[in-house]
Amino acid sequence: MPSPRRTRAYPELERVLIAESAIRRRVRSLGREIMTAYGDEPITVIAIINGAILFTADLLREIDNPVRLDCIRISSYRNNTKSSGRPRVIQALTLDIKDRHVLLLDDILDTGRTLSVVSKLIRKKRPASLRVCVLLDKKGRREVPFDADYVGFSIPNKFVVGYGLDFAERYRNLPCIGVLKPERQVLG
Ligand code: IMP
Ligand code: MG
Repeated sequence: MPSPRRTRAYPELERVLIAESAIRRRVRSLGREIMTAYGDEPITVIAIINGAILFTADLLREIDNPVRLDCIRISSYRNNTKSSGRPRVIQALTLDIKDRHVLLLDDILDTGRTLSVVSKLIRKKRPASLRVCVLLDKKGRREVPFDADYVGFSIPNKFVVGYGLDFAERYRNLPCIGVLKPERQVLG
């Protein structure tokens, strides 16, 4: 018998873009790609919170390498669904990453500003290597050039929520990723 959770409708979504089962499959295959790339090397994972929390939790369980985890919090420079200004670090790293293989994780690559700032900051600390993995990539929205080494899904230019992604801190707990109804994209 299907559980009520899996058949739940999401009345605030215009549509589901990526189903929970598709996310699970893709996260598993990203884990395999990453393990192949790193071999037996230990990995220092840096997650950009809050958005990457759910993705990080699931991806790490698909990786068998020795892993150290750190988080970095970047100011939300967004005003509702649009970006403005420059991202700033509001919670710094705590682990020493010099000479470590760093894997930087984020929920979505959009304008490229956040990952560009965070990558520069990490490179200054002289890691042995830096690779970037994002669950989602909105390629058409770049304002600064940036490519991730691993991309879960390329998506169209729509504002999405769920699986860690929020609108005004809501919807992070949806197990799928969906397009928020335009009438819900208002701050109140
Ligand atoms: P960027 O700096 O413009 O690349 O954006 C990165 C951050 O903006 C992500 O870490 C998200 O927190 C947020 N963001 C970008 N697009 C979306 C979206 O469609 N839904 C929710 N958050 C988004
Ligand atoms: Mg984010």
